[in-house]
Amino acid sequence: MTASLGSLEKKASPEADPSVLQIWGRHPLQGKVKISGAKNAALVLMAGALLCPDECRLRNVPSLADVKRMGQLLSALGLKIKWDGDNLEINGRHLDKSEAPYELVSQLRASFFAIGPLLARLGEAHVPLPGGCAIGARPVDIHVRGLQALGANVQIEHGMVRAYVPGNSRRLKGAKFYLDYPSVGATETLMMAATLAQGETTLQNVAQEPEVVDLANFCNALGARIRGAGTKTIVIEGVPRLGSADYEIIPDRIEAGTFLVAGAITRSQFSLFPVVSEHLIPVISKLREVGAQIIPEGSNGLRIIPGDTIKPTDIETLPYPGFPTDMQAQFMALLTLSDGDSAIRETVFENRLRHVAELNRMGANIRVKGNVAIVRGVPTLSGAPVLATDLRASAALVLAALAAEGKTTLQGVHHLDRGYEKLDLKLQQLGAKIQREPATAGMEKDATALQSAKSALK
Ligand code: EPZ
Repeated sequence: MTASLGSLEKKASPEADPSVLQIWGRHPLQGKVKISGAKNAALVLMAGALLCPDECRLRNVPSLADVKRMGQLLSALGLKIKWDGDNLEINGRHLDKSEAPYELVSQLRASFFAIGPLLARLGEAHVPLPGGCAIGARPVDIHVRGLQALGANVQIEHGMVRAYVPGNSRRLKGAKFYLDYPSVGATETLMMAATLAQGETTLQNVAQEPEVVDLANFCNALGARIRGAGTKTIVIEGVPRLGSADYEIIPDRIEAGTFLVAGAITRSQFSLFPVVSEHLIPVISKLREVGAQIIPEGSNGLRIIPGDTIKPTDIETLPYPGFPTDMQAQFMALLTLSDGDSAIRETVFENRLRHVAELNRMGANIRVKGNVAIVRGVPTLSGAPVLATDLRASAALVLAALAAEGKTTLQGVHHLDRGYEKLDLKLQQLGAKIQREPATAGMEKDATALQSAKSALK
């Protein structure tokens, strides 16, 4: 497994990150933590709001850097948006641009979700090709082929995806399309595009993630006619126009899973709510396998009770309902302290084991062979200066730091803020010793972090 150093060096430069997290390990957690709305539902439902020609409201929207960026994209396209706490009011009446600005898409891959709704509503869409990221090349070929199947002409030139619907009606045509891979984003793009198409669309081999179901429920609240979301086949009967809706976003199953692992790794008992436990079946099953108890609490809460030890287990990430790739790094952090050997195979993304080098710097014993990480449990981890490379890797390093002896300084906190709402404050409220500090306090450690990452990659 090779990883490009370029991004590490780029991320390590001072201007990349205004703060660090100082974490002192071995402070037990207790109490109750509130789980925010799901990032990966909020982002796509905000794109889905482009389908609405009136006002609509999204509730339980998490306050995240990526969500703010998506709001900027909607405004750039002409929508009026108004924040009211964790509610977002969107007025799509004045949608008058079909081109998403490069500087926004380049910062937020999820902006690419705009292509389906823009094509459906305006008959054309011009969206920059989203680049790759730390975890993989992230191609959009399935999105493009699906839109072509719905009758769009799609050209990719100079880094732009230019799509338009030929003919006077400028309306996509329903079609049958098989996805080569159950891509979450492609499923969502094509489902949104098909809501306003002429006729019926059948999408086969689609993603079944809860966020796909949340999007289908939101679109149906707007007046779309979508059936089968959450199964392998989704059927969409096109309608000429959608209306308004007032819709609450599901809780974030990955944030909830991250907190469950925090309880197991720090040997702490605490509760979390709201949680839809059906969304966490593979994660709960694995936590029970390694010795933790997860107990339903009240109508929509869970309580984590850690085991006396952490047993080893093997994990293979798969599309839902398999074990989620977005929980792989966090679970690896837990398994570094197990009393045996575990094998973790990452099958969804080609470069999502980059947290291994930093976990090893904290005393973990992990070897990577291709897309498999062999994790040999160690009795303790030790705090160290570490560098986050992507969103879930940064969460894994926070979890490891909570269990480690001594202090950890985490650089690259902006990765964390993209996907977790106030994670440091929520952990503080549970009793963790964690604080955010200006980067200067940790900059000198940067060179060592970078140096050791280089040596780990040789
Ligand atoms: C969504 O990304 C999530 N992001 C990811 O969460 C999540 O890890 C991923 O789904 C898988 O569950 C959002 O929802 C905003 P994919 P997405 O298309 O849609 C290949 C996080 O940490 N593929 O299901 O981009 C692709 O290369 C983020 O919260 C194609 O080959 O994921 C990858 O290997 C990270 N061609 C695999 O499919 C395509 O056209 C899965 O990607 C599209 C995808």
